[in-house]
Amino acid sequence: MNGKRILLIIGGGIAAYKSLDLIRRLRERGASVRCVLTEGGAQFVTPLSVAALSEQPVYTDLFSLKDETEMGHIRLSREADALLVCPATADLLAKMTAGLAGDLASTLLLATDKPVLAVPAMNVRMWEHAATKRNVAQLRADGVAVMEPTEGPMACGEFGPGRLPDVPDIVNWVAGQLSDAPKPLAGVKALVTAGPTHEPIDPVRYIANRSSGKQGYAVAEALAKLGASVTLVSGPTALPAPAGVARINVETARDMAEACQKALPVDLAVCVAAVADWRVEASAQKIKKGADGTPQLTFIENPDILATLSQSNAMRPRLVVGFAAETENVIQHAQAKIARKGCDWIVANDVSPATGIMGGERNAVHIITPTNVESWPEAAKADVATLLAERIAHALAEPR
Ligand code: C5P
Repeated sequence: MNGKRILLIIGGGIAAYKSLDLIRRLRERGASVRCVLTEGGAQFVTPLSVAALSEQPVYTDLFSLKDETEMGHIRLSREADALLVCPATADLLAKMTAGLAGDLASTLLLATDKPVLAVPAMNVRMWEHAATKRNVAQLRADGVAVMEPTEGPMACGEFGPGRLPDVPDIVNWVAGQLSDAPKPLAGVKALVTAGPTHEPIDPVRYIANRSSGKQGYAVAEALAKLGASVTLVSGPTALPAPAGVARINVETARDMAEACQKALPVDLAVCVAAVADWRVEASAQKIKKGADGTPQLTFIENPDILATLSQSNAMRPRLVVGFAAETENVIQHAQAKIARKGCDWIVANDVSPATGIMGGERNAVHIITPTNVESWPEAAKADVATLLAERIAHALAEPR
C-alpha cells in the first residue's frame, strides 16, 4: 500500500475503537490515512486521538466554514486513492445505498469517483435483517467492495456474524483490494464447499471423516484474491474464515446441500468438501448400552451436491469443479466420476494414509477434464489453490 492515500470514514458503532489501531496498521504498511468522523463515530472515538494517530487534520462537519475554506469536501474525496468506511454501520450502509448526502461522510461517499471499500460491523440481528442484506447486495452491485464481518461474541452480549474482522485481516483485505495485480475473477460469483460433514447417530454421537477443510478454505481464499465474490459453505472445521469470504457454517450433508441451493445462482462452483455419502437414521435419544444388544445403524444415501449442481438445468454454474479423494486407481476413478456426476473438471488426489494429504499442509493433484489429465507436482495446499484459481479464471475468460 506504499504511498496509497486512504480516506477513512469512521462510523458510529462500538467497533469504532478498533479504527485507531487500523490507522496505525495502515500507516505501517505505507499508506497515508486522512480521517472523517461521522457524528456517531465522534461519540466513540475523539477527533484528537484520530488526529494524533493519523497525523492529519480530522474532518467531521459538512458545514464547517474553516474546513471548507481550507480543504473543501469535494477535494477531500478527490485527493484520496480510495475511501474506506470502517466500521460501516447499518445506518451508513443504508445512506450509501440510497445515495443520501446529508452529512460530510455520506456527501463524500456520493461525490467520489474512487474505489469505495466498506467493512460492516453491527449487531447480528441488524446484519441479518432483510434491509441490510438488500443494501449490501445493492452496494456490491454498485461496485462497492464489502468485507464480510466475522462471527463471534459481540459487545452487545449476543453471538453471531456482524463483528468487525480483526484489524490485520482488514489491512490485508484493503491491501488486496487496492493492489494493482489483475483481478480476472472480478464480478464472478463463486460457491465453494469445504470440510467434512457430521452425521448424527444420536444427540451426542456422530459420524465424521478426517477432512480438515484446509484445501477448500485455500481455494476460497485464492478465488477471492482474484476478485471473485465467494460464498464458502463449510462443514465443522477449526479454521478461521478467509478474509473477504462469506462463510456459511453447516453440519450435515443435507444442511450443506440446502445452503448451496440458497447460494445459487453462481458462475462457478468448486466442491471440495468431503461430504458423507451416507447418514444414519438418528435416534432422538442417546442410544443406551443394555439388553437390546449391539445397536444396528441403518444407512440412508445423502444428496450428492456436486451432481445436483452439475445436472441442474436452470441454474447450472458455468463451471463446476469437483474434488476426488481416492486411495487407489486415482485417475480412473476420477474420470468415471466426471461422467457420472456431470461436472466439468475433477481435481483428484491420493489420500492413502502414507501420503499425509488428509489433514496435512501439502497436496499432489491431477486435474482431470473429460478429454485431458494433467498431473501437478506436490505443493503446499495454498499454492495448489492459487494455481487452480488461475486455471479457473482462464477457463471462465474463454467465450461461452
Ligand atoms: O463421490 P465422491 O464422494 O468421491 O465425490 C467427491 C466429489 O463430490 C467432491 O467434489 C465432493 O465435494 C462431492 N460430493 C458432494 N456431495 C456428496 C458427495 C460428494 O458434493 N454427497
